[in-house]
Amino acid sequence: MNISLAIMAAGFGTRMKSNIPKVLHKISGYEMLYHIINESKKVTDDITVILYHQATLIKKEMDKYFDDINYIIQDVENFPGTGGALRGVEAKYEKILVLNADMPLLETQDMLSFTKIDAPVIMSSFKCDDPSGYGRVILDKQKLVNKIIEEKDTTQDEKNIKLVNAGVYLFDTSFLKENLKNLKNDNTQKEFYITDLIKIANEKNIKVKSIEVDIDTFMGVNSKYHLALAEELMQTRIKRRFMESGVIMRLPNTIYIESSVEISKESVIENGVSLLGNSKIINSHIKTNSVIENSVIENSDIGPMARIRPNSFIKNTHIGNFVEVKKSTLNGVKAGHLSYLGDSIISEGTNIGCGTITCNYDGISKHKTIIGKNVFVGSDTQLVAPVIIEDDVIIASGTTVTKDIKKGSLAINRAPLKIIDNFFYKFFGKEHE
Ligand code: UD1
Ligand code: CA
Repeated sequence: MNISLAIMAAGFGTRMKSNIPKVLHKISGYEMLYHIINESKKVTDDITVILYHQATLIKKEMDKYFDDINYIIQDVENFPGTGGALRGVEAKYEKILVLNADMPLLETQDMLSFTKIDAPVIMSSFKCDDPSGYGRVILDKQKLVNKIIEEKDTTQDEKNIKLVNAGVYLFDTSFLKENLKNLKNDNTQKEFYITDLIKIANEKNIKVKSIEVDIDTFMGVNSKYHLALAEELMQTRIKRRFMESGVIMRLPNTIYIESSVEISKESVIENGVSLLGNSKIINSHIKTNSVIENSVIENSDIGPMARIRPNSFIKNTHIGNFVEVKKSTLNGVKAGHLSYLGDSIISEGTNIGCGTITCNYDGISKHKTIIGKNVFVGSDTQLVAPVIIEDDVIIASGTTVTKDIKKGSLAINRAPLKIIDNFFYKFFGKEHE
């Protein structure tokens, strides 16, 4: 079935108490609005996002990801509220799915479940122990929806109703068009409520069915507390999918994985690990408290406590504790301890000794370090970039490399070691002897 889709994102998000618009708050690495548009795009090619508060900023952020979304600006001065939001929407298809933008956990199959019922108006609801903030759903004797009462308009008795409006609706486009103009703002907030369309449908003898949905998927994010709850739910979902596909996770509750990360084959992710951005982990072992950002790790082991920064490509490699890698390509390398490898290309069989530093920054620009095959980089080496180390080179411990090194050479720039007998006693005096 072809349906149009409208996402309401014009609200002020006051309860968020933030200068950042509510829908730009991030969950698992991406803005709430990004998640919902991303899922919506799998459902339809006709998506309208309704904006008003900080519209320019929101559109600019979404333009980074999507180029085929219609944006409209709500006439909030004259028609505030979720009913006012829909006034300017021009739907291409006969049915229109309407979503609140503050539902980052909604997925394609949840949206499609509405299309399985054929009725002019379908809404969604769930039962919850703490219904505060949600509109309460009033059912008639046949369990059809009679009306929705917003929290602020409820009587004390109605506040106890545990069945609440989830905030997703499927309308016949013609019903919506005809009846939006009949909405009134005679309520506590002086707003035009989309939820009053249910009452209007009833007045016209149109039966309104409600789909019962899962609160863990349809929860609305109104505050930073809700934001944290939604984050936990999304993390659980992301990690569960990886574990079901064969990834091992130790203490998964301590692991953070952004929604764009890919993990394949029998990778192992230990406790405290963060996997960020577009990272790809292929058949690798990421040990405790390591951070991997926008990088590809294949057939390698990383950490514990290693940091792999953006644009690194690490293959068949061992990275040990306290090693930082940035924008580097390592293939068949061992870097066991305490090193910084930035803007470098390092080839098979090379060993990077403890305390090696690529001095990639001269205060103005970044420079490259290229290290060939089978190079032995002694501990505490500084490689002052730009520099090229050819294959089969030995760099002695403590060397500062400021020139390119030819294949097969030794590089050493150590000052001669002096040992002065009994110097301690001369210095501190005879009584220490
Ligand atoms: C809304 C529902 C409530 C439901 C809940 C589910 C209404 C009147 N109430 O309440 O019944 O239980 O969602 O989460 O719809 N928005 C606009 N323009 C506006 C006002 C809001 O586009 O003028 C957008 C907001 O940006 C937001 C969405 O509509 O994404 C919902 O608004 P919000 O203020 O969060 O509504 P709730 O009070 O949560
Ligand atoms: Ca809400």
